[in-house]
Amino acid sequence: MEDKEHTKSPWPGPAGLIPVTSGRADDANLINRRFLDSITVEMRIIDSVTPDLSKTLFGRKYASPIMMPAFSHLNKVGKDGRKPMNEYAEAAKALNRLNWVGMEPDEVYDEIASVGADTVRIIKPFARHELILSQMEHARKMGAVAVGIDIDHVVGKDGRYDIVDGMPLGPVMLDDLKKYVASTPLPFVAKGVLSVQDALKCLEAGCKAIVVSHHHGRLPFAVPPLSLLSKIKEVLKGSGMLIFVDCGINTGYDAYKALALGADAVAVGRGILSPLLKEGSKGVVEKLKRMDEELSELMLYTGVKDTNAFDPSVLHGAQV
Ligand SMILES: Cc1cc2nc3c(=O)[nH]c(=O)nc-3n(C[C@H](O)[C@H](O)[C@H](O)COP(=O)(O)O)c2cc1C
Repeated sequence: MEDKEHTKSPWPGPAGLIPVTSGRADDANLINRRFLDSITVEMRIIDSVTPDLSKTLFGRKYASPIMMPAFSHLNKVGKDGRKPMNEYAEAAKALNRLNWVGMEPDEVYDEIASVGADTVRIIKPFARHELILSQMEHARKMGAVAVGIDIDHVVGKDGRYDIVDGMPLGPVMLDDLKKYVASTPLPFVAKGVLSVQDALKCLEAGCKAIVVSHHHGRLPFAVPPLSLLSKIKEVLKGSGMLIFVDCGINTGYDAYKALALGADAVAVGRGILSPLLKEGSKGVVEKLKRMDEELSELMLYTGVKDTNAFDPSVLHGAQV
């Protein structure tokens, strides 16, 4: 059955540029939202004090574990010559948090990177491996903190390898991942891990971080990323691999649940789209500040003094 409430596009720009939920039973965004909302939190207020939200990632200290998303293409929908990709990078810089950038040609990436926020560059799983390698090297020269691939964007809606902006994507084999990892001195991130099996393959390949994600519901009936976090955390224990998560994180309360379940940091994606497109970096700064307040509120209620002290046993409800 279609859920009309969730299928209206709240975003400007050409149809299809910014994904809208289908509202059908296979819509992983709705499955995910229900899962996130079904998790409840107990209180541990005695002895609890104002928490420290700072988080060290890739050896650098950030003000919060709530990061920017790996977005792309948005400079094409900026009104009055505005450049939303640059604007959210400005917000990342102003707030001292890690920025992410997805599919963009090197020239556009350069402009975004020039804003000066610490940036993770995510490249598509292009069929042309040499393009992946050259974009990785280019990002390194531009000072990227880490590079990676959204390994979950292999499949198109016709069940074959997807084609984006006329560029064919291809399969990602374990040996390819090993090759990419070996080709760069930067930490390599696999974005779009949604099973223990793939997490273990990323570990074997030498990835330094994974993003547990279904990429705004690309996979029909996708399992909610947060529901896999504990298992993935368990198998990666002691490896030093960073575990990030995204999909549906829209409040500091959502972020808290992900962090309590074992994520090192979270990315907020479509949650920043409206403020970004309406008000630019100012809107994003306000949204992220509010999310930090909500995160701090739940940490203070539950006796979590800093971002290394989360405890999943405060969570109740869905199989967490
Ligand atoms: C406009 C837009 C562009 C995106 N471009 C990319 C991309 O190029 N590479 C990538 O890995 N993910 C891309 N994503 C996916 C996001 O990084 C994120 O995984 C996804 O939106 C789920 O998070 P959310 O539910 O908070 O939006 C894009 C998402 C949106 C909305």
